[in-house]
Amino acid sequence: ENPQLTPFEIFFKEIEKFSKLHMKDRDRVQEILQSMQKAGSKTLQVISDFDMTLTRFEYNGKRCPTCHNILERSDAISSDCKKKLQELLDKYYPIEIDSTLSVEEKLPLMVEWWTKAHELLVNQKIKKAGLAKAVKDSEAKLRDGYQYFFDHLNEHSIPLLIFSAGIGDILEEVIRQTEVFHPNVKVISNYMDFDESGVLKAFKGELIHIYNKKEGALLNTGHFQELRTRTNVLLLGDSLGDLNMADGVQDMENILKIGFLNDKVSKKHARSYAH
Ligand code: TMP
Ligand code: MG
Repeated sequence: ENPQLTPFEIFFKEIEKFSKLHMKDRDRVQEILQSMQKAGSKTLQVISDFDMTLTRFEYNGKRCPTCHNILERSDAISSDCKKKLQELLDKYYPIEIDSTLSVEEKLPLMVEWWTKAHELLVNQKIKKAGLAKAVKDSEAKLRDGYQYFFDHLNEHSIPLLIFSAGIGDILEEVIRQTEVFHPNVKVISNYMDFDESGVLKAFKGELIHIYNKKEGALLNTGHFQELRTRTNVLLLGDSLGDLNMADGVQDMENILKIGFLNDKVSKKHARSYAH
């Protein structure tokens, strides 16, 4: 071993060994990490997307489900509704990942997708009591290393904000069942609204879709106070819309964006993340 290397340099060399890791500007990444390390864990927060970022994209060659998929595939949904949701996915998912379309072109179509899907779900009279089973029976899988990631952040009291256009109730159930829903975890997502008898009647609040994950939703939460003092951000996402998730953070000192490049990702998409 080279005695001149500092612990940070040794750590950075380890990171660089991952063959699937791409850095747009290696020196800049090094600078950011060093600066964050110096500032310490009290200034750090992690903001992460959920579906296909904290959860796996595929396992044994098979696609893993999103929050919506978990519900869709459960017995809480009729086969007719399953068919309609699948048709929506077949129509809109290719648009979501189409790198030739601009955000402006995609935005209204994504709102259309989410609105139609939520309408279909509300018509299904889904019972709150059945959600845990839907998740238990599903093939949802958190990414390798999730246990260390969640536990370590909690041990150091580093806030983890999960910002998801999925379904909050399902997402929470996934992390509860994997026993990583620690007190440092806050979730901003689409939450279900149930009537007195525990039947889904609507979704709460403003719809969160993949292109409005920014300050609007953030500012309205108590979590925001904490965010203000956490000026170093580790951002994890998979879609281009996830890049805006930290827009509500003021006086940002450093942000390191990590993108999980899952499906038909363009060079441009990859470049937007790798810094
Ligand atoms: P995320 O913000 O946690 O990644 O969640 C958004 C994902 O949900 C996005 O990749 C598309 C997916 N989705 C479905 O799988 N089915 C649906 O019906 C809808 C509206 C979204
Ligand atoms: Mg995602």
